[in-house]
Amino acid sequence: MKPDAVLDFLRDNRSAYHSGEELSKILKVTRSAVWKEIQNLRKLGYEIEARPHHGYRLLSVPDRLYADEIQSGLKTRFLGRQMYSYEELDSTNDACFKLGKEGVAEGVTLFAEYQNKGRGRLGRTWVSPRGKNILLSVLLRPALSLSDVSKITLSAAVSLIKAIREATGRALGIRWPNDVLFGDKKVAGILTEMSAEADQVNFIVLGIGINVNSETSELPAQSTSIKEIAGETIDRVAFARSYLEIFEKDYLCVKERRFEKLAREWEDYSATSGRRVVASLPGRKIQGQATGIDEEGALWIRTDSGLQERITAGDVQHLAQ
Ligand code: BTN
Repeated sequence: MKPDAVLDFLRDNRSAYHSGEELSKILKVTRSAVWKEIQNLRKLGYEIEARPHHGYRLLSVPDRLYADEIQSGLKTRFLGRQMYSYEELDSTNDACFKLGKEGVAEGVTLFAEYQNKGRGRLGRTWVSPRGKNILLSVLLRPALSLSDVSKITLSAAVSLIKAIREATGRALGIRWPNDVLFGDKKVAGILTEMSAEADQVNFIVLGIGINVNSETSELPAQSTSIKEIAGETIDRVAFARSYLEIFEKDYLCVKERRFEKLAREWEDYSATSGRRVVASLPGRKIQGQATGIDEEGALWIRTDSGLQERITAGDVQHLAQ
C-alpha cells in the first residue's frame, strides 16, 4: 500500500463513511492493514470517526506541518515537490544547506515545529515557540550572479506580504531588506545563505521564520503574529501552501530576470521608504531619510550631511518621525 493511501482516500472522500471492506477493496490491501493504518493516523493526530455499520470518516487533520498535508493540493511546479517536515531540528537552514551540498534538486523544502539553534541575520538567534509558527527553508539553484541574490530575499518578503494579505486582508510592509512588519512590529524574518563560486551562485538556502499563531508574550520584544493581526487562529498548513504557491511565481520572475513588476511591488510594500533611518553598514553607521528601493533592490538614503548613499547590504532601523 502507498504510504498515504488511506489518508489520501479519506481526505478526498470526506463527506461519506467508508467501511474497512470498501477501503480494503479500493486500496487492494487487507482489512487489517487498513485498520492498522487508521490507528497510525490517529496517533499522528488525525481525528477519524469509526461508526458501527457505516465505516470510517475523516473529521479533522492535526495542526501540524506534515509534508503530506502541505503537499496535498499544493499547486506548485517545483517548490515543495520534495518536502521534509521535522518535529525538531537545530536549524532548518543548516539541514537544508547540507542537502544543498549533497546535490538535491531545486525546490526542496524543509519545515520544523521547533529549532534548537534557530538563527537570524547578523549572528542573532530566532526564537519561536514549538508548534505554533512556521519555520522553513527552501533550496534554490538560480543561475544568477551574487549581486542578484538580494532580489530573491526581497521577492520572498514580497510574497509574504501577499500571502498575509490573502489570509487576513491586512496590509503589511517590508523593513528593508527583509523584515516583514505590521506597523513597527516584526511578523517574519528571512535569512538568505548561499554557496557560491567566483561570482556565480551554486545554491541558495532561503530560511524564513513566520510568527503565525504565537502570542505576543511568547515572542521577542517588538514582534507580533499573524494571529494577533487577524484576531483569529490561522490554518498553518493552508498558509504554508499559499506562501509556497505565491513565492514560486515571484521567485521565477527573479530567476528569469523579469524584475520590473517585482521592483514595483517591493517599492510599494516598502515600509522603509520615506522613513528616517539608521543603517548599520560594515564598519560605519549612517543616518538620514530613506528615499526608496531601486530596481536592483538597493536602498537609497539621503544622509543628514546631504549625501545620496546606495546601500546593497546592511541592517536598517526605523527612527521615530
Ligand atoms: C532575521 O530576521 O534575522 C531572519 C530570521 C530567519 C529565521 C528562519 S527560521 C527558519 C530558518 N532557520 C533558521 O535557523 N533561520 C531561518
